[in-house]
Amino acid sequence: MDMLAIAGSVPVIPVLTIERLADAVPLARALVRGGLPVLEITLRTESALDALKAIATEVPDAVVGAGTVLTSDQLDRAKASGAQFAVSPGCTAGLAAAAVAAKLPFLPGVQTISEAMTLVDQGFRFLKFFPAGAAGGLDWLRSAAAPLAGVRFCPTGGIGADNAAAFLALSNVVCVGGSWVAPRISVAAGDWAEVERLAAAAARVKRP
Ligand code: 3PG
Repeated sequence: MDMLAIAGSVPVIPVLTIERLADAVPLARALVRGGLPVLEITLRTESALDALKAIATEVPDAVVGAGTVLTSDQLDRAKASGAQFAVSPGCTAGLAAAAVAAKLPFLPGVQTISEAMTLVDQGFRFLKFFPAGAAGGLDWLRSAAAPLAGVRFCPTGGIGADNAAAFLALSNVVCVGGSWVAPRISVAAGDWAEVERLAAAAARVKRP
């Protein structure tokens, strides 16, 4: 599957920063049960790659990828750990080339029109808009739709249950990413029922 097919299958991609390896599998299972099977594991913790590998091995219904990928080395290690896609907060020419060379579905991040133009030049038409809330949010995406016709986005950063539907209503938004479906406090408490409930609510967010 390509990145658009993966992301286009869900309204919301949970962005997960996993501190305790033991949380990885029950967290992923709760999100899948709630109806959100596409999971982004950020490479921000020591256990991230092991968490990714555990989910890839033990939760076959999940489509698990690596987030916060900053370097080609991280991208290769994520792929070796079972990542089915990679997401980056911004992008470099080297990282984009590494994703193409690795044949790994890749969602590169942009914050400006120029960054989007550079990635379009490199063949990418589906981009992460990050940090969506801080970088212009709904207004930016609306303004980008005409000049960047044909480019579609997964806005992430500052999105929650209160505004996800507004983002999903935009014609150039495929899905949104966010951490709100797996609150730190619920994960720390092992409250998987709450995670499942939040995921189910997010999975029901409809495009108009
Ligand atoms: C992040 O950077 O952690 C992700 O983009 C998620 O952002 P959020 O916590 O605002 O959803």
